[in-house]
Amino acid sequence: MKKTVLVSGGAGFIGSHVTVELVQAGYDVVIADNFSNCDETNYKGVCAILGREIPLVPMDFCDKAAVYSLFEKYPIDAVIHFAAFKAVGESMTEPLKYYRNNLLSFMNILDAAKHQGGCNVLFSSSATVYGQTDQLPVTEETPRQPAESPYGNTKTMCEDILRDSVKAYAGVRGIALRYFNPIGAHPSALIGELPRGVPNNLVPFLTQTAIGRRECLSVYGNDYPTPDGTCLRDFIDIVDLAKAHVFAVTRMVEGRMKKDYEVFNVGTGRPLSVLELITTFERVNGLKLNWKFAPRRPGDVVAVWADPSLAERELGWKAERPLEDTLRSAWAWEKHLAGLA
Ligand code: UD1
Repeated sequence: MKKTVLVSGGAGFIGSHVTVELVQAGYDVVIADNFSNCDETNYKGVCAILGREIPLVPMDFCDKAAVYSLFEKYPIDAVIHFAAFKAVGESMTEPLKYYRNNLLSFMNILDAAKHQGGCNVLFSSSATVYGQTDQLPVTEETPRQPAESPYGNTKTMCEDILRDSVKAYAGVRGIALRYFNPIGAHPSALIGELPRGVPNNLVPFLTQTAIGRRECLSVYGNDYPTPDGTCLRDFIDIVDLAKAHVFAVTRMVEGRMKKDYEVFNVGTGRPLSVLELITTFERVNGLKLNWKFAPRRPGDVVAVWADPSLAERELGWKAERPLEDTLRSAWAWEKHLAGLA
């Protein structure tokens, strides 16, 4: 029988790509989203790619009664939780907004999972939990560091809430996936990253500069102790990242977990500098980008990249899409948004 996966935040950047991969792998998906940080563009793109309507429930996961009734209405075998605020800077000025939303929504899901006698819960965590470590690449055993921001703190706290809930409540099992830097868009260019306002992250700012919506890309810091002086990151293709969720959900629903709470890094294992990313983008898309060096951005770590071997061994997943294709897709998506393609 087909299994049903609830995707909270399924209309967002990562959630929409995960929905596509899940449905293509044979899962039924229910998307629930309150559209607080996105419009319907990606949801429509998902339905266009799949050629059918995917059930969509407009709702807020902070509303406990709404979460309970969702679990009553659908036979949910697994939940993937994306519905959270994610702007690092805003979380510094609005910490309570972040703690309330990101913790409460997740606790409501776990409560409902417990109430129905168990569920498989996948939490979208982040490499931000490692902070700046000198153990590179980072493995899942690398100690977590105190978070630099309330946003980062909510990731660490939700991991702990999941770990403790799994211990206490029969039938609740959990996986936390720690994402490195997800970039790119679906090869169809029908779904992608759609930041509201001025983008904080590198690739959306870069593509908006290339299309002329922003004047100039600032490269934050050229005096870091790295080969070219700019920060090193593990940029992971969004479709590869989405596929990791299919492997993780399948492991859960098929009862193949080794422990009831597991953690996996989702990265490529390859560090790339900010400058290398820019020059590769220019080369593969045949354009010249307007960029300049600017002072370091407070809170940035110098370098972080994954040891993804545990995910390869246990989930059978590894990153496959070449960086060139990822950066072509990021540009195709930006042009699609501008109505140029
Ligand atoms: C941040 C978060 C991470 C989150 C990720 C995706 C922290 C410390 N990091 O990662 O948890 O998962 O966003 O939302 O909380 N850069 C520029 N110019 C720009 C923008 C970025 O040079 O206009 C540089 C940054 O200095 C950094 C690199 O590009 O070195 C990547 O930045 P960004 O895309 O914002 O991601 P992270 O900060 O690595």
